[in-house]
Amino acid sequence: MVRKKVVITGAGGFVGSNVLSLVLNRHHCIGVDLNSPGRNLPSVDQNVDWYSADITDHRQMLKLIDTVRPDVIVHTAAAADVDYCENNKTAAAAVNTESVKYLIDMCTQRQIHIIFFSTDTVFDGKKGWYGEYDAPNPVNYYAETKIAAENLVCAYQGPWTIFRLSLVFGLTRFGGGNSFLSRMLDQLMNSQKVYFPSLEVRTPAYVNMIAGCVVESLERQITGLYHLAGNNSMGRLEMARIIAKNLGFDQNLVRDSSEKPVISESEKGETITRANRPLDVSLRNEKAKETFSVHFPDFTEAVNDIKGLLFSKHSSL
Ligand SMILES: NC(=O)c1ccc[n+]([C@@H]2O[C@H](COP(=O)([O-])OP(=O)(O)OC[C@H]3O[C@@H](n4cnc5c(N)ncnc54)[C@H](OP(=O)(O)O)[C@@H]3O)[C@@H](O)[C@H]2O)c1
Repeated sequence: MVRKKVVITGAGGFVGSNVLSLVLNRHHCIGVDLNSPGRNLPSVDQNVDWYSADITDHRQMLKLIDTVRPDVIVHTAAAADVDYCENNKTAAAAVNTESVKYLIDMCTQRQIHIIFFSTDTVFDGKKGWYGEYDAPNPVNYYAETKIAAENLVCAYQGPWTIFRLSLVFGLTRFGGGNSFLSRMLDQLMNSQKVYFPSLEVRTPAYVNMIAGCVVESLERQITGLYHLAGNNSMGRLEMARIIAKNLGFDQNLVRDSSEKPVISESEKGETITRANRPLDVSLRNEKAKETFSVHFPDFTEAVNDIKGLLFSKHSSL
């Protein structure tokens, strides 16, 4: 295996930290983040060069790329909160789209392989089971920024890979990040209710499977557009109930979002627009399964894997 220099942006986030954990013993790994909690873990620190950089600061990024001269950039950094994006359009476009434009300029001169992460929500959710050949039609601003970035990546003349991710589930490596499962576990452990929408249908994707595909893509230079999704389509409420049941929590704590107590905007002291969510954005994963040798587990198999990880974590404390 050729050892590569791999820059991972958003390396302290949910997906980025899981990719980094798999890459760090196989390649020269350079983690980029605003302020990663991973820096505090000695086992991670020994094997990773950390850079603190804002991906919207193009001069800072150019200096970093010039210094490091990577073979691959795994670009996970993003503004991934859909409501934040709806309410902060300029900032969202700067992080999700403009950063990609400048990264591609830097990649072009050096023919760097760029691996970019998009989302199932580029689709409008009217039909479900979308393939790579289906036309996107976004219903919120977050998805618009992602499609604009996808178009920039597709036009890049060097090696590129786009992974459209379904709703991702799994554990964060460094504590922070956008993992609904980690947040849900914290709440259930404190016997708090958790709320999920029943009508939003997804094909939840296990983060370990995603990390495996990223590593295979960068090692074998697998390029093109792929949907990384699980095998099973389900409503988000049903999904949360299966997780709670398999991990031994009280399923009655998992409630339909329609039952959530409404906090008025004046009580919150702010006025925010809730972004539209597409209903059924289940993705077909056949193309990815034919291309990658990584195992795509069924949903309950992945939940049992997580149960094992949680158990070993607690028994080693
Ligand atoms: N999680 C999902 O279910 C899901 C589904 C579909 C697609 N995706 C896509 O997958 C990718 C990874 O998502 P994720 O769930 O891992 O999100 P995440 O946990 O929020 O991680 C994003 C990372 O980006 C960093 N970041 C944000 N703005 C930055 C900036 N200006 N400069 C440098 N770093 C910055 C964040 O750092 P700070 O925390 O320090 O701000 C964070 O570490 C994203 O492109 C997302 O759109 C995720």
